[in-house]
Amino acid sequence: MSDPPATPPLDALSLRLAAANALIRRRRSIKPQAMDQRPVDPRHLAAILENANWAPTHGMTEPWRFFVFTGAGRERLADFCQSLYRRLTLDDAFRQDKFDKLRSQPLLAPVVVAIAMKRQEIEKIPEIEEVEAVACSVHNMHLTASALGMAAFWSTPPLVYSDEMRQWLGLSDPRDKCLGLFYLGWPASETWPEGQRGDFSGKIVHIEG
Ligand SMILES: Cc1cc2nc3c(=O)[nH]c(=O)nc-3n(C[C@H](O)[C@H](O)[C@H](O)COP(=O)(O)O)c2cc1C
Repeated sequence: MSDPPATPPLDALSLRLAAANALIRRRRSIKPQAMDQRPVDPRHLAAILENANWAPTHGMTEPWRFFVFTGAGRERLADFCQSLYRRLTLDDAFRQDKFDKLRSQPLLAPVVVAIAMKRQEIEKIPEIEEVEAVACSVHNMHLTASALGMAAFWSTPPLVYSDEMRQWLGLSDPRDKCLGLFYLGWPASETWPEGQRGDFSGKIVHIEG
């Protein structure tokens, strides 16, 4: 029997591209409901947060701020979110299932990170760019979590954008903003979820001449 033909080795560039593709395309949003209660190793958490700090930042303002809730801290967050929802919601719009979820969801993930944007004092950089920089930092966290095999999910219930939320987090400048909650934990299932995206061709325009 002759040996099967050898697969030609990938060159270094193709290997690097394959690694980038795998990380970017493997990243999935995995909700707290699909996490288990295994604790997050503080070294993993530190690696995730440190990579957030390497996001691009116009003017080097580094506007991302993170408030990390663990243990009973998550209960304080959950209680606050529930009471805020109650306060901000008119009786007609109030939904018991949303109210209940605001309490239960933060307790399903071992770590919940409140994401915030700290506005630059002199406002030289447009606000939208500061929000964009924070989004990049969250993406860095998400990619790092995925690389570690961890579950992560960015959640933005409307109340996160309120002044009350900002103040509760201790952000005294009214120009600062909470931009959501980032849930972090371990996936309960051994099957990593499949992602899906629509056709790319309609989202890009080439101008060549
Ligand atoms: C800024 C931002 C806010 C999001 N907020 C929510 C949210 O409030 N609820 C939700 O179900 N998903 C939220 N998501 C996650 C998206 O639902 C998720 O990215 C999308 O379903 C694609 O799945 P994938 O991340 O696994 O590729 C948010 C994503 C981004 C970028």
